[in-house]
Amino acid sequence: MRALVIGASGQVGAALLEALRARGHEATGTYAHHAVEGCWPLDITDARAVEHAVFFVKPDWILCPAGLTHVDYCEEHPEEALAINRDGPLLAARMGQRVGASFVYYSTEYVFDGASGPYAEDDPARPLSQYGRSKWEGERALLAALPRALVVRTTVVYGPDRQEKNFVYQLIRSCRSGQAMRIPSDQVSSPTYNADLAAASVECCETDKAGVYHLAGDGVLDRHAFALLACRIFGLDASRLTAVTTAALGQKAPRPLQGGLRIAKARAALATPLRSPEAGLLAMRAALDGQAPSGRSG
Ligand SMILES: NC(=O)c1ccc[n+]([C@@H]2O[C@H](COP(=O)([O-])OP(=O)(O)OC[C@H]3O[C@@H](n4cnc5c(N)ncnc54)[C@H](OP(=O)(O)O)[C@@H]3O)[C@@H](O)[C@H]2O)c1
Repeated sequence: MRALVIGASGQVGAALLEALRARGHEATGTYAHHAVEGCWPLDITDARAVEHAVFFVKPDWILCPAGLTHVDYCEEHPEEALAINRDGPLLAARMGQRVGASFVYYSTEYVFDGASGPYAEDDPARPLSQYGRSKWEGERALLAALPRALVVRTTVVYGPDRQEKNFVYQLIRSCRSGQAMRIPSDQVSSPTYNADLAAASVECCETDKAGVYHLAGDGVLDRHAFALLACRIFGLDASRLTAVTTAALGQKAPRPLQGGLRIAKARAALATPLRSPEAGLLAMRAALDGQAPSGRSG
């Protein structure tokens, strides 16, 4: 099958390209600001460019991890968040419909308010932030326009990543350079290994899944506990990590606190395993050890 990955320069998009190709599919990727060799530039808010890309590739599947993902930036730029997280994907999905492509939209745990997680797919959404709202509106717009679309919700994605910007890389950099790091101990979530998210997404495409699926790690824990686990697995000195409340961080956008995603639906429907945080961190360490003879991992 032929896939178009919009947002392949990001963490999830890069993992998707890899998973698609590993399973023998043809995959074309796009980037917006961070050029990637072999990928095409594409701004998802540019209707003509999206049309051109979709009609040129004529994909069977469009996977769209593209998004405005900086939660605090979105809080102050709600229109931009809606344009990139709702309107752009909707446009790409409609274009895809014209060439017969299925569409996968990437959403977030932040559609929930974090009062009583972990959440199942059909639990009521109540986003607290502009980022969460833009994604929730994206989900609804997409499923209203294309009932066979697939919405994948995920959260706290980590793993090997070319841009090295996910939480585990930040933690490794801070601990290795002896910098102090304040980490919330009241934000509970389901850390998700990026390769599992990608492989499960490809399996969803191959098996023609539609509707909402939670693809996330197996288990819930708070961010500070996740950091301590990562320190143990990567052999990092955790003495400069401080557990704080989310309120103490003074972030612009509110976060769901008691979050996490239930994955029973994905477990029942898919063969791809969704690893626990411990198993995912061990896999990340093994992958970085394989990649970095200079000893990037511990
Ligand atoms: N990472 C997480 O923990 C997490 C958690 C929950 C949900 N999600 C969702 O999963 C998806 C993928 O996340 P990620 O971690 O891979 O995010 P990411 O690393 O920030 O990547 C975002 C991607 O979107 C692209 N993009 C940004 N603006 C664009 C535009 N105007 N037109 C086209 N592409 C644009 C970026 O391109 P450039 O980099 O080239 O600008 C990049 O390829 C997102 O939709 C996010 O909301 C992620």
